[in-house]
Amino acid sequence: MKLSPVIAPSILSADFARLGEEVRAVLAAGADWVHFDVMDNHYVPNLTMGPMVAQALKPYCRKPDGAPATLDVHLMVEPVDALAVAFAQAGADLVSFHPEASRHIDRTLQSIHEAGCKAGMVFNPATPLDVLEWELERLDLVLVMSVNPGFGGQRFIDTALRKIEKIRHVIDASGREIRLEVDGGIKVDNIRSAADAGADTFVAGSAIFGQDDYGTVISAMRRELAGGH
Ligand code: DX5
Ligand code: ZN
Repeated sequence: MKLSPVIAPSILSADFARLGEEVRAVLAAGADWVHFDVMDNHYVPNLTMGPMVAQALKPYCRKPDGAPATLDVHLMVEPVDALAVAFAQAGADLVSFHPEASRHIDRTLQSIHEAGCKAGMVFNPATPLDVLEWELERLDLVLVMSVNPGFGGQRFIDTALRKIEKIRHVIDASGREIRLEVDGGIKVDNIRSAADAGADTFVAGSAIFGQDDYGTVISAMRRELAGGH
């Protein structure tokens, strides 16, 4: 079962001096979710934002009609558990983490849910998918990295498409309502191939925030997603 497509701009590529306005602008331009990249200079060689920033941005996570927009927190941190709970308390709607960064994956998933959040697991380009067999029923989302985590503006790694296809089969076979998100190097000209492989949730940072008119990029992405089947 394919869920309706979600476009989740990564604010990693937004103007950090004006984050609130940027979140508001990208939601006004038609974005569905707000993708929030947390980097700790340990699991990945970069340092970004903590729970205080998420809490400050939470009131801005509203669509123009006032409906809440999902605050999609992507943790690239090690260890995971304390920060996962801190982000849940700060207002994250969904917290995703990299399984290799958690000592006890099942416990991490439990604590995210206990904190009232949806939970996702993230797979790097070379990370095997074995844990899915055991934890699928605890997942609300699976995130496939199509770049190595740590920076915006990198090139899409094509093997991610095969990985997306594989996970699509696993999700479909389970009959569960689990989103399949792709993150890294997504642009207007390749979003369709990620969708054809089976992704339904699309993170895009530099492709959106690198242009003056966010609405034009988001509409072009939606046209690509709507074309064909
Ligand atoms: C990379 C981050 C991505 C990044 C995507 O580690 O997880 O969310 O911001 O940026 P683009 O779309 O520019 O590849
Ligand atoms: Zn991300």
